[in-house]
This record gives sequence, C-alpha cells and structure tokens, in this order.
Amino acid sequence: MDRKTFIKTCGFACLSGSALVTILESCASSNYFAISTLDRNQLVVKKSEFINIGKTTQTLRKYVLVKSNKFSFPIVLYRLGSERYSALLLQCTHKGCELQPQGDYLVCPCHGSEFTNTGEVQNPPAEQNLQNFKTTTDDENIYIQQ
Ligand code: FES
Repeated sequence: MDRKTFIKTCGFACLSGSALVTILESCASSNYFAISTLDRNQLVVKKSEFINIGKTTQTLRKYVLVKSNKFSFPIVLYRLGSERYSALLLQCTHKGCELQPQGDYLVCPCHGSEFTNTGEVQNPPAEQNLQNFKTTTDDENIYIQQ
C-alpha cells in the first residue's frame, strides 16, 4: 500500500468511527427512560431528569420516556419550555404500532405516519391525534395525569 492510499484509508476509517460514536451517543441520550413514581393517579417525574450530564458539558434533553403501569406503551414527555410539557402515549392512532421519537416529532415505523411533539398528525395514514395527558408542574416535579 502506498502512502497516499494509506492516508486515504485511515482518514475514512477515522471519519466513520467518529460518525458512529456520534450516532451511538445521540441514540443513548435520546431514548432515556426517566425515573418516575406513582402518586394517586399521577406519574411524577423530577424536572432534573431532563438534565443530561456529559463528560464535560451539561445539556437539556428535549424529551424523556416514562413507563406507565396503566398502558402497554411508554409515554413520551416533551419539554416545550421551562414550565410547558407535553405527555403523549407512544401508540400510533393508525394501527397501534409503537412510535419512535425523532427529535421534535414522532415517526411510526409501520406505515410512516408522523406526529408533532404535541401529538398532532402531520403525515397520514394516521388521521387522529395522539392520546395526550394533562401535565402540571411545581418547582421540582412534573405531574402526568394518566
Ligand atoms: Fe402507525 Fe400505521 S400503525 S402508520
């Protein structure tokens, strides 16, 4: 192998490796299940669950996932503002597949429906908005009325 080919090969390997690490890091941080407790009929999630502590930085997650004993699908809890949250059941209203959060929107892997982070249909075949749960907050917690 000549010097030019060697450098080219190493360069591609390095780029591929960094891209893979970035993708894996984004997957790990985006599908974070928050710790929640049940208080009467409400799921309680600490606001601090949105803080993502990295090696050198601290960022805010756009959303966290929450398990509910009442539903067979998780709930996605979006942070829309400092005191605004949106809690949506991750069940597609078309044929019931589990939705996948993709940043600020949700995608159905079965037939491609898309929903906003407030649960509104953006792309068919789904026609109905997602099940949306009322949320309230205090200084420390977010309460999801399920
Ligand atoms: Fe989601 Fe069909 S089940 S689009």
